[in-house]
Amino acid sequence: MKPLIQFDYTHLVHKFSETQLHSLIKKKEAVRRDLKHKKEGGEIGFVDLPYQENPSPLLHLAAEVRQTSETLLVIGIGGSVLGAKAAISALAKNKKFKIVFMENPNPDSLYRLFQEIDLKKTTINVISKSGSTLETLSLFFIFYERMKKIFSAKELKKRIIVTSETTPNPLTTLAKQFEWRCLTIPLNVSGRFSVLSSVGLFPMAVAGLSIAKLLAGARWMHDEQRESYLYGTLAYGAHQLLKKSTTVIFPYDERLSLFGDWFCQIWAESLAKSELSGPTPMKAIGALDQHSLLQLFLEGPGNKWYTTIGIEHFDTDIKIPKTSLIKNFPYLKNTSLSEILNAEKTATEKSLIEYHNPLCRLTLPSLSEETLGALFFHFELATTAAGYLYQINPFNQPAVDHGKEWTKKLLHKKISAL
Ligand code: PA5
Repeated sequence: MKPLIQFDYTHLVHKFSETQLHSLIKKKEAVRRDLKHKKEGGEIGFVDLPYQENPSPLLHLAAEVRQTSETLLVIGIGGSVLGAKAAISALAKNKKFKIVFMENPNPDSLYRLFQEIDLKKTTINVISKSGSTLETLSLFFIFYERMKKIFSAKELKKRIIVTSETTPNPLTTLAKQFEWRCLTIPLNVSGRFSVLSSVGLFPMAVAGLSIAKLLAGARWMHDEQRESYLYGTLAYGAHQLLKKSTTVIFPYDERLSLFGDWFCQIWAESLAKSELSGPTPMKAIGALDQHSLLQLFLEGPGNKWYTTIGIEHFDTDIKIPKTSLIKNFPYLKNTSLSEILNAEKTATEKSLIEYHNPLCRLTLPSLSEETLGALFFHFELATTAAGYLYQINPFNQPAVDHGKEWTKKLLHKKISAL
């Protein structure tokens, strides 16, 4: 079987001295053992998700929603939605069924959304692991009241699907009281590692993506997990030894733009737990950012290392036609858009190398459910490995929780504004 991701570390590895590499490889082995141990102890749940046994209840529910509605409104924030958003924007082909994400409690955006969707043909999927996130709950309450005016109590029950943890929390308590259907998030899977649980899979299934293929891709990556540990270890080394404090992910396909956002969240929220452990994530999109960020990358501060993601074969290709307009552009003759994009990627890689930047190259044979499943799982494993090397807990987010508490206090009017 052709690899779903090809990893090329050549231009990253040779930046380290032999002693540094030797010590990094030793650390990688220790991390692999640590992770295995923690997994066996039930501390890490996301690694089991590719092997979940029966996603069919979720698929049946998805089929029902497609029949009864024309829009799935997904309400959630952060790890509760970024994965599904990334996958759907990368792969969903049938745009007739709308999947709309509402994350931010922004009144103007919400007002606009009211004009865009027909609530009579909408099902809501409200996603919150803790069941208490105020952005999510406040938006949900607004939609609930509007839908209550449209649907009978019996029909309304069918129009609300809750995704949350199994233990009682404010959202699951409401779900029980009003008999809304629930999908669950395993307790040992934290928000940003939940894309392959019903958090991500349900909206993806409604969008028509193949869940079986996504999970198969993740299983392939699980079999190749050494690559992810190596990536996480070299990322840690790039930060700690090469002093590259910014990790740039650089897909040459704008369909992976939201995947870049998903990566930024998992990298930042998981790894930044002290002065020393927070590599700053950044996304760039090729070829667009050749006309924006590349100048910074090549001649600005040398505090970054890069991972490009390339697509070997696009689903379609479009040739530059024979035209009299082409006279002054001989290099465009007999070429196609995919050739141009891939030439631009290689040119950027060559420039990054010439300007002495560490570079890792990931190549996907095509952009598909399988390769995206592998990509999600790769970065989840790599983030975990890097987290253990920094000796921090990659699965909590105390500073995010701190911000949540302040907001609640402000809204309770227990404290005043600055
Ligand atoms: O990754 C995380 O854990 C966070 O980004 C959460 O997903 C986010 O804060 C939303 O939390 P919840 O799912 O509890 O509503």
